[in-house]
Amino acid sequence: MDIVHHVTDLRGIRRAWQAEGCMVALVPTMGNLHEGHLSLVRHARTLADRVVVSIFVNPLQFDRAEDLAAYPRTLAQDCRLLADEAADLVFAPPENELYPAGRGQVTRVEVPGLSALLEGAHRPGHFAGVATVVCKLFNLVQPDVAVFGEKDFQQLLLIRRMVADLDIPVRIEGLATVRETDGLAMSSRNAYLGAGERPQAPAIHQALSELAARLQAGERDYAALEREAEKILEKRGLRSDYVAVRRRRDLSLPQPGDTQLVILAAAWLGRARLIDNLCLDLPSSAG
Ligand code: PAF
Repeated sequence: MDIVHHVTDLRGIRRAWQAEGCMVALVPTMGNLHEGHLSLVRHARTLADRVVVSIFVNPLQFDRAEDLAAYPRTLAQDCRLLADEAADLVFAPPENELYPAGRGQVTRVEVPGLSALLEGAHRPGHFAGVATVVCKLFNLVQPDVAVFGEKDFQQLLLIRRMVADLDIPVRIEGLATVRETDGLAMSSRNAYLGAGERPQAPAIHQALSELAARLQAGERDYAALEREAEKILEKRGLRSDYVAVRRRRDLSLPQPGDTQLVILAAAWLGRARLIDNLCLDLPSSAG
């Protein structure tokens, strides 16, 4: 497995693969890899001849300076895990390699609409930062396919939209969230949970599952169900940012007769901000 830090090295390897006629998959990450990331890498392996994993803690997508400084950086351990998964190339650029003129000077990719909802409303500028870096990574790596986790459901929709709008020739694959045995979605940010907080953290998945069960049972007062789920989170010691029942295809408000929904939630537990979601299909007669 090669580990490169510079764009020129990445481009050289990519050109050689092009000459060999290789299909290339990209798994973009911010490092501090866990089983959720590794499942993306394993899936990428089944899709292409070469697998590139990018590791870059992208400053443009952090809305709070403390969060950026505290984000866990574990490059050596990440590379060991990726070598075990037979990744072919790790691209781990320093910040000035991707943003040579400085963070403030970079051309930004804005995905209208989706960027302003839910996560976007709570984290101003976050999705422009994500879209910008992912667009750059696509231009640099030129993957045939890129793999993302469904845990960041809104991010996945946003990237699909960006790729469609900008005609970027890459297929986007979304992969199911990997969970701990108690239901907590795996995330690098779980590292911020104190030992006393960790047992409370599955409450977010439980609240989503309970809401999903009530929708399956025929309840349709979405706003009331969202408020109740938020109260459940508060009772279990989390501070809710939002719980939202939305149309799965574009995160707009569900209309009568919609069957493909997603419930999304974000909540604070101590200094960890947890996000999670659950997709559900309602019977088409229920509306
Ligand atoms: O999901 C993440 O880890 C990041 O948002 C991504 C896609 C690697 C962009 O920095």
